[in-house]
Amino acid sequence: MSDHLTVVNHPLVQHKLTLMREKSTSTAVFRQLLREISHLLAYEVTRDLPMTTTNIDTPLVEMDAPTLKGKKLALISILRAGNGLLDGVMDLIPSARVGFVGLYRDEETLKPVQYYYKVPSELNSRVVIAVDPMLATGNSSAAAIDLLKQSGATDIRFLCLLASPEGVALMKDRHPDVPIITAALDERLNEKGYILPGLGDAGDRMFGTK
Ligand code: URA
Repeated sequence: MSDHLTVVNHPLVQHKLTLMREKSTSTAVFRQLLREISHLLAYEVTRDLPMTTTNIDTPLVEMDAPTLKGKKLALISILRAGNGLLDGVMDLIPSARVGFVGLYRDEETLKPVQYYYKVPSELNSRVVIAVDPMLATGNSSAAAIDLLKQSGATDIRFLCLLASPEGVALMKDRHPDVPIITAALDERLNEKGYILPGLGDAGDRMFGTK
């Protein structure tokens, strides 16, 4: 992957995203749409995975057939909303290894603080896909990527549903080597750090909390 930002303009993605943005959409429908859209985004984020061939026997002949090359992918969910995207991505890549990064914002320093970190081994030889639906200020996303790099990851992609221009700029500054794949680039952040027009709090909407 080379382009820093990819907006997945597929009609199905855009249609489902509109349904998710609508505030009257129920938790159950939001979850279902998130799962469906995750499949389509997973398709895009894996488009250029390295390939090799393996020799197989079809019922008729032998052939060298394409397969994914290298170690199993690592999917990293940035808690808690990342788990909503993770489920759908795992549907498409069921053998992926999975990790979790938990960060909260210190109210005094406003800096992200790690409260949970468990990732697969040998991140240095895996394609790593970090998932978080909302790239808002970018602070926690950039901090999560810092941690993954400290664990040895070198080939990282960031998958989200919505991105803000502010978040994309921060990620480009801190992690220019990490491509971002998103369903939409929205207009801006509000004073509380929410994406506008956005869809509200992604975690609350997928888990039914408030
Ligand atoms: N996190 C969310 O869930 N929503 C936003 O708009 C911004 C950050």
